[in-house]
Amino acid sequence: MSSRKREVVIRQAEIDDLAAIFHLGEKVFTSQAFSNLYRTWDEYEVTTFFNQESENLLVADDNGTVVGFAMGTTIEKARSAWSYGHLVWLGIEPEYARSGIGSMLFDRFKRLMKKQGVRMLMVDTQADNAPAIRFFRSKGFENPTEHLYLTMQL
Ligand SMILES: CC(C)(COP(=O)(O)OP(=O)(O)OC[C@H]1O[C@@H](n2cnc3c(N)ncnc32)[C@H](O)[C@@H]1OP(=O)(O)O)[C@@H](O)C(=O)NCCC(=O)NCCS
Repeated sequence: MSSRKREVVIRQAEIDDLAAIFHLGEKVFTSQAFSNLYRTWDEYEVTTFFNQESENLLVADDNGTVVGFAMGTTIEKARSAWSYGHLVWLGIEPEYARSGIGSMLFDRFKRLMKKQGVRMLMVDTQADNAPAIRFFRSKGFENPTEHLYLTMQL
């Protein structure tokens, strides 16, 4: 275990963390790289999650500095007895990558989802985001399903 991981605490986000979360997201979810096509990283992502389900908005705190975050939601589907969880955004400060912080955030998020009755957890990322795919596979995600987005210039 790296020394960095030992210092880092996972906790629920507080209002004073919101700017740091937003700026870290700007760094890791660049438009060419790992953003979702159907969701754009902007201030509203952070403030809406904070307003609507702050219990599912987590940060990794290294002595007062936000070095990672996870945010997600639960989904009820019509005609399904199961409750689903969706990890919508997970971002780690690049300097802290591969020190287990993504795993710590994910493990806490998974526990939160279980407590809320979730039976199936979903994540999504772009098909060429190899680090994220490796990460999610290492956490036990399987059965990737292809979903194509098509665009039309108007
Ligand atoms: C993907 C991401 C969340 C991983 O976070 P992390 O803190 O570096 O992950 P961990 O240190 O907990 O890694 C756990 C395991 O995931 C896999 N993994 C993580 N990053 C990897 C990489 N760059 N290449 C290959 N495997 C990787 C490894 O199996 C790793 O275990 P190991 O280090 O013992 O080999 C982080 O790189 C990130 O923020 N990426 C940009 C944003 C993004 O793509 N988010 C996901 C979609 S919303």
